[in-house]
Amino acid sequence: MNTSVTKFDDDATDAQQGQVQQKQVTVWDPLVRIFHWSLVSAFFIAYFTEDDLLDLHVYAGYVVAGLLVFRLIWGLVGSRHARFTDFVKRPSEVWAYLKSIIGQHPRRYLGHNPAGGAMIIALLSSLVLVTISGIVIYSIEESAGPLGASLSGVSEFWEDVVEELHEFFSNATLALVFFHVTGVLIASLQHKENLVKSMVNGRKPVDEEDAA
Ligand code: HEM
Ligand code: HEM
Repeated sequence: MNTSVTKFDDDATDAQQGQVQQKQVTVWDPLVRIFHWSLVSAFFIAYFTEDDLLDLHVYAGYVVAGLLVFRLIWGLVGSRHARFTDFVKRPSEVWAYLKSIIGQHPRRYLGHNPAGGAMIIALLSSLVLVTISGIVIYSIEESAGPLGASLSGVSEFWEDVVEELHEFFSNATLALVFFHVTGVLIASLQHKENLVKSMVNGRKPVDEEDAA
């Protein structure tokens, strides 16, 4: 099954091409899909529990941290479209792709498109900063977590700084999520395909012509 994937997924394809019989190929491996929907759940649980339900907040935050570690490793050794080398593009390519969206003729990619790839790096980076600042503030305020009581004596000034950073990056991530989902919807409409469904079942249609 996966051999045929490799055969098909070499090329970015043009969705405007003919309405020929469409073949489905697996693009997102099961671990990427489990990672994605677990991340969505844990992120929103952490975001909406804040400090009212601190235990749940911290557990959800640890789940996010664990998922990030997994994804960073999987980006190096995972399946073809999960790898950073597959979707991290130069800024000039990202810019050219964004312009092509406005021009209504964006290329279709089986993996992440260049703008989607840039967004993923932004989301992962922002989440790393949220979880690190969370772990630091947890040590400062509660003398708990991986850093224990090692930061409990820091000044109020630094406590405020870290708290602000934690809140800032949480909100920045939420804003990125908004643009991420908007991008997913725009790409789905432009290419007349359901990208959300693909992130559930792992599969995307590919034109027979593209295989050649
Ligand atoms: C309900 C809201 C969401 C929907 C519908 C959604 C949908 C998707 C879809 C369809 C993709 C694949 C994009 C493509 O085909 O190129 C994707 C990828 C991704 N999304 Fe979301 N997303 C949502 C929320 C989130 C949230 C909350 C986060 C993080 C806080 C997130 C982080 C990511 C990441 C990191 C990827 C890359 C997956 C990978 O390659 O491992 N998404 N999302
Ligand atoms: C994606 C993961 C996370 C998100 C989205 C998130 C989000 C937030 C938000 C929005 C607040 C409220 C900020 C405020 O109003 O002052 C908060 C507070 C807090 N978070 Fe997180 N957080 C995450 C992960 C973590 C982790 C991993 C830890 C610790 C291990 C943590 C520890 C705390 C603590 C101790 C507070 C209370 C800070 C205060 O006194 O206001 N968070 N978090």
